[in-house]
Amino acid sequence: MPGSKRFEILRNRPVNKDGFIREWPELGFCAMRSPYDPAPSLTIENGKIVEMDGKRREDFDFIDAFVADYAIRQEQAGESMSAPELGIARMMADINVPRADVVRMVSGCTPAKLARVLDYLNVVEMMMAMQKMRVRRTPSTQAHITNRKDDPAQIAADAAEGALRGFREEETTVGVARYAPLNAVALLIGSQTGRPGVLTQCAVEEATELALGIRGFTTYAETISVYGTERVFVDGDDTPYSKAFLTSAYASRGLKTRFTSGSGSEVLMGCAEQKSMLYLEIRCLMVTKGAGTQGVQNGSVSCVGIPAAVPSGIREILAENLAAACLDLECASSNDQSFTHSDMRRTARTMLQFLPGTDFIFSGYAAEPNYDNMFAGSNFDAEDFDDYNVLQRDMMVDGGLRPVKEEEAVRVRQKAAGAVQAVFRRLGLAEITDEQVEAATYAHGSDDTPERDALADVLGADQMMARGVTGLDVVKALAESGFQDIADSVLQMLKQRITGDYLQTSAILDENFNVISGVNDPNDYQGPGTGYRVGGERWKEIQEIPNLIETD
Ligand code: 5AD
Ligand code: CA
Repeated sequence: MPGSKRFEILRNRPVNKDGFIREWPELGFCAMRSPYDPAPSLTIENGKIVEMDGKRREDFDFIDAFVADYAIRQEQAGESMSAPELGIARMMADINVPRADVVRMVSGCTPAKLARVLDYLNVVEMMMAMQKMRVRRTPSTQAHITNRKDDPAQIAADAAEGALRGFREEETTVGVARYAPLNAVALLIGSQTGRPGVLTQCAVEEATELALGIRGFTTYAETISVYGTERVFVDGDDTPYSKAFLTSAYASRGLKTRFTSGSGSEVLMGCAEQKSMLYLEIRCLMVTKGAGTQGVQNGSVSCVGIPAAVPSGIREILAENLAAACLDLECASSNDQSFTHSDMRRTARTMLQFLPGTDFIFSGYAAEPNYDNMFAGSNFDAEDFDDYNVLQRDMMVDGGLRPVKEEEAVRVRQKAAGAVQAVFRRLGLAEITDEQVEAATYAHGSDDTPERDALADVLGADQMMARGVTGLDVVKALAESGFQDIADSVLQMLKQRITGDYLQTSAILDENFNVISGVNDPNDYQGPGTGYRVGGERWKEIQEIPNLIETD
C-alpha cells in the first residue's frame, strides 16, 4: 500500500511528537478512577477514626493516619459520607449553592469519597465550580525568574519587568546550587523595583531554602513536596510529620508557605500502588490541609508528562486544582512545566484555569525565554506575553497580566540591574560590571549577556551566608546607594513578616502593601452579577495592547 500523504502530514504534526499511553492501572497510568481505588467508607469510634476507605486503623500507612487524625472534620463526616456523590458534585457546579456550603461538605469527606465526587464532573462543570470555589475573589499569577548563567543582573531585570507586567509572586531557582543566596537577593531587589509588593521565593534544597527565608531574602516558600503513597514519600526521606514541622518553622518567622504536589509523581517514582492519580493527589491535599499550611501548588506540576499521556489526564489536572479549592486551600494551579510540542494543546490546557480564574493561574509562567527556564521550561514563556495579553482582551478575562510599554520595561530593568550592582558592591558579594547591567537591561535572555565569573560568584555567596548578611543589610545597602524607594519597599516586605496578615489563605499584596486574601477578598461568586468581574481601570489596562490600529 502506498503511504497516504495526508497521514504523512498528520504524523509530522507537533502533537505527534508527544507521548501517549493507554490506561494501565497496574502501574498507576490511570487519571481519575482506577479499578483498584478503594470504595469510600469511614468508621469513627470514641472520637477516633478507626476505619477509612476500606482500611482498618491497624493497616493504615502514615498518610492514612495523618489524614484520619488531622484532615477530616469528624462532626461533619456523618452528613458528608452519607450524602450521594452525585449530589455533592452537583453542589459544586450549581451557582445557587454558596462556596461555604461546598467547603463544609468536603471537610467531612475521605479521599476516596472526594475522588468519586469529582469524577462526576466534566471539564465545563469543573470550570464552573472553580470560578466559585477558588479562595480569593481576584485571580492572579506567578512567574519563574531564572537564567542559565544565574546572572543576578538578569534576574533583577526580569523580576522588575515581571512585576511591572503584573505577576504577584516571583520564584527563582538555581543552575548551580551554591548560587542560591545571590539569586534570592537579586530577585528580592528586582521584584520590588518593577512594582512593589511582589512576594518572592527561591526553590532549593529544604534546609537552604529555610535559611534564606529566615535571613529575610525571601517572603514565601512553596516547594514543600508531599506524595500520595508512603513508599514514595519515604524515598524523599520525609513524612507528613516532618513536612508539618518544616511548615511550623516557616510560620514561626512569619513566612507564607504552600505545599507542592500533583499527579504523576508516584508513577514516576515507581510506586503508585495501582491507584488513580486523582485519588493519590487527594491524599496529598489532605496531608497539606492537615499540616496547616495555607495552600498548595498542584496540578501535576513537574510530572505533567504522565497525566498528559493518559486519557482524561488534562481533565484530571483541573480536578486536582478544584479539589484543593474545595478543601479551602489556596491553589497555584500549575501550567508551569511544558508538556507538549503542540501550541494548540498547550493553550487548551491553560484555558481550563485561565477561564474560571484560580488564585494563581500559573504557578510558574516563564518570565524569561524558555531556554533560560531552570525549572525545565514552562507552558508559557516571555515570548508569549503578547499572545497572553490578547487572550485576556479577546475574552475579557483577567489572567493577572497586563501590557507594558517598551520604554517603561527598559527603565525598570536598568534600574533593577543597577540596584543589584550597587548592593552587591556595597556588601562585597560579587562584581557586576556596567557592561553586564547594560546587557541585562536590553537582553531577551542569557544568550545576549556576557559570561560571569562563576567561581567568584559562588565564593561571594558562601561568604555572604558565613558573614550573616540579612535582609536588613540589603535595605541599608539600597538606601546608602541612592535607591531609597527600593529600600523602602524591601523593608515593607520584611515588615509583613511581623504583622503576619499575609499568612492568611491566598494572600497577595497590592503595590501599596495591602494584603488581599481570602479573608478580606473572599470569593463570593454565585452566578451572573456576582463574584470577580473585569471592569473599570483593570479592563482599560487589558485593552491597551501595543499592536493597535491607530484611529486618531
Ligand atoms: N509532586 C510533588 N512535588 C513536586 N514538585 C514539582 N512537581 C511535583 C509533584 N508532582 C516540586 C519538587 C520540585 C519543585 C520544582 O516542585 O520539589 O523540585
Ligand atoms: Ca511555582
